[in-house]
Amino acid sequence: MIRKIITYPNPLLREKSALVTTFDAELQTLIKDMAETMFDAPGAGLAAVQVGVNIQLVVINTTEDDEEEEEGPSKKERTFLTLINPEILAAEGEQVDVEGCLSVLDLTAKVKRFMKVKVRAQNAKGEPLEFEAEEFFARVIQHEFDHLQGTLFIDHLSALKRNLYKKRIKKQLAEEGK
Ligand code: CO
Repeated sequence: MIRKIITYPNPLLREKSALVTTFDAELQTLIKDMAETMFDAPGAGLAAVQVGVNIQLVVINTTEDDEEEEEGPSKKERTFLTLINPEILAAEGEQVDVEGCLSVLDLTAKVKRFMKVKVRAQNAKGEPLEFEAEEFFARVIQHEFDHLQGTLFIDHLSALKRNLYKKRIKKQLAEEGK
């Protein structure tokens, strides 16, 4: 089931996500729904808080690019990685690239991230996993883990840029009568 993605300035996006302690059927349903929601958007990743559940769970889109793809429904299998209670054990290097967020509408901006990160997390069953990620994959991981701390990519921008965005969204919401 595709879930509704909450957007800035929803205050839930600012809360810290709680540790996952129960790996039950309800969690499996949430993971499945999050993957479906991410593929539908489409997005590179999605944190549980973005569908209104503030627990330490993210899904990362690992579907390979297929530029040769013909029109019609994709035959390619869509794949994703589930990371629960994640930690960054080590980080190095630097990369700057354009980011956006499904919860931050109508904005993309350059954000500085680590080039390489070492991650420890649990999978959907609660089993431990550890791996290294770099470049775009590392960027997506850092962006999604930020969500678990209540941090958005706009927090990495200058105060000026962030305030301009805040004003623009406020005005937009006022015009929409929200
Ligand atoms: Co995001």
